Amino acid sequence: MPEPRQASNAVALEQTDDTPLIEITGATVCRGNNCVFDDFSLTLSQHESVVILGPNGAGKTTLLKLLMREIYPLWRDHPVIRILGKERNDIWELRRQLGIISADLQEHYSPEVLGRQVVLSGFFSSVGVWGHHRLTDEQHQRVETVLSQLEVKDLADRAFGELSSGQQRRLLLGRALVNAPAHLILDEPTSGLDLSATFQYLQTMRELIRSGHTLVLVTHHIHEIPPEVTRVVMLNQGKVWADGEKTEMLTESRLSSLYGVDVRLVESAGWYQVMPV
Ligand SMILES: Nc1ncnc2c1ncn2[C@@H]1O[C@H](COP(=O)(O)OP(=O)(O)OP(=O)(O)O)[C@@H](O)[C@H]1O
Ligand SMILES: [Mg+2]
Repeated sequence: MPEPRQASNAVALEQTDDTPLIEITGATVCRGNNCVFDDFSLTLSQHESVVILGPNGAGKTTLLKLLMREIYPLWRDHPVIRILGKERNDIWELRRQLGIISADLQEHYSPEVLGRQVVLSGFFSSVGVWGHHRLTDEQHQRVETVLSQLEVKDLADRAFGELSSGQQRRLLLGRALVNAPAHLILDEPTSGLDLSATFQYLQTMRELIRSGHTLVLVTHHIHEIPPEVTRVVMLNQGKVWADGEKTEMLTESRLSSLYGVDVRLVESAGWYQVMPV
């Protein structure tokens, strides 16, 4: 077997810790008047990359927000959610351990923030860089490296609000990678990216997984599931509808049933594509 290649933008990690990345037991999660999850349980390992699929409104983003401690489950008399073994995580530490990309994040940035500051803000898990943020030379250097690797150096001095949606996404990917986090939590990360940027992003993801990083990916694009992803969790109406090995989960009948539409599925060299029947 070939040696796993080292990710260009992260040190290779040796993960020997068996503590789950996430352990949810009987969670009830309400948003507004709507209880999205009722008695929801799911465990994700630190050692396997997972894709989360499901139709609009299934609860995918809610699950990721739970993982990022942006929302909390209702109180129960037992620990409902443990992240990296802890019931109560230091929120800042957690956000450094988990690199995240979400559409929400894109909306939160002020239009005048410069591209370089977007990437830099990943060091502080903040939305922008402020006067009290002290940056080391090493951090500045790391930002330049990430900007080069993602081929967005030309966006470094441009205002975020003036960039196209895809250019903004590329900078947010840089923000997530700047800390070289062990785990990446990605909510539809390629939305708005053109083909070249999508392929470049996929390559980066593949390298990160091969070098020991864990990916938790939400996507509607079956063709963007990196071959290295081994597990698929299917959500529907706030429930784990199916969960297992990718090869068992990605079948025409399951996908047709999950999305309520007949699909044809093609597999090639570990990549999948769906088409209408
Ligand atoms: N801020 C909110 N207030 C109230 N209800 C919400 C809120 N955000 C989401 N919901 C509801 O929670 C449910 C799950 O939403 P969620 O965003 O997790 O779905 P999703 O699987 O990410 O869907 P999509 O594929 O459209 O992104 C939906 O019924 C949605 O209407
Ligand atoms: Mg969503």
